[in-house]
Amino acid sequence: MEKASDLGGKWALVTGASRGIGAACAVSLAARGADVAVHYHESQEAAEGTAAQVEALGRRALLLKADLSQPSEIASLLEGFRSTSRQLDVLVLAAAATAFKEVEQIRPHHLAKTYNLVVGGMVQLVQGALPMIGPNGRVIAISGSGTDFTLPGYALLGSAKGAMEVFIRYLAQELGGRQITANCVSPGVIDTDSARFYAKDGYPQFAARVSAATAVGRVGSPADVAAAVTFLASPEAGYITGQVLVVDGGLGLSSGPFMPHDAAP
Ligand SMILES: NC(=O)c1ccc[n+]([C@@H]2O[C@H](COP(=O)([O-])OP(=O)(O)OC[C@H]3O[C@@H](n4cnc5c(N)ncnc54)[C@H](OP(=O)(O)O)[C@@H]3O)[C@@H](O)[C@H]2O)c1
Repeated sequence: MEKASDLGGKWALVTGASRGIGAACAVSLAARGADVAVHYHESQEAAEGTAAQVEALGRRALLLKADLSQPSEIASLLEGFRSTSRQLDVLVLAAAATAFKEVEQIRPHHLAKTYNLVVGGMVQLVQGALPMIGPNGRVIAISGSGTDFTLPGYALLGSAKGAMEVFIRYLAQELGGRQITANCVSPGVIDTDSARFYAKDGYPQFAARVSAATAVGRVGSPADVAAAVTFLASPEAGYITGQVLVVDGGLGLSSGPFMPHDAAP
């Protein structure tokens, strides 16, 4: 079946599209025909690179800068989008930032930064975007495996992503009658700046341990996650809503003490 223009004539807005998973989503959606609003916060040059890839695919790209932890900047972002298009078909929420701390080290500013961006930003952006989203619209949020099991230093982001998953479930229920779906994609460990930041100087060892514990034997790529996002954005996924699609290569299948002997880290 021809897939190249499934999303032709549609507009996608991807947050955190300057780098990593968000950037891959923007390019993947454009490859299926969507015009893409490329949101970024500080990485303007990288965002311009994403926009250039979208345009190289023959699609329109709109650059939008905003700190999504700040309500006034979210309002400006939405206004910027509306000045180009009154219709939004696919909203992808990929932006995130946190401090990887154990619970006793978490301070109020860490809490504010993570929750204002991941939870508050999501709610405000969805509320502001919904009037532009019609039937067959899609809301797709990137959560993470820290909601299903514990990861060192991950309480803050994991709990914020837990709130995200529950919010998206409610959204799916409320929007179903308008034929709008809402889902999460939950990546395992994906080779991006944030995974390298999490592992600090030990990324190669971390990646080797993760690969050994992953059924398919490797760390994920941003394109692996973008493929799932693009599927959920497609017309074929119109009957899937309120779900969390895990994209982790089988990392969540393993349990430390029961790993195969030759795969033990
Ligand atoms: N990588 C993984 O292993 C993994 C695993 C599970 C879930 N995830 C989730 O996947 C999503 C993308 O992760 P990634 O690894 O691709 O991240 P990344 O490469 O670190 O990129 C983070 C993105 O978020 C944006 N951002 C950061 N602070 C922001 C703020 N205050 N306001 C608006 N945007 C902000 C950044 O924009 P600028 O660069 O322009 O500032 C950047 O585009 C995140 O939600 C993350 O939690 C990742």
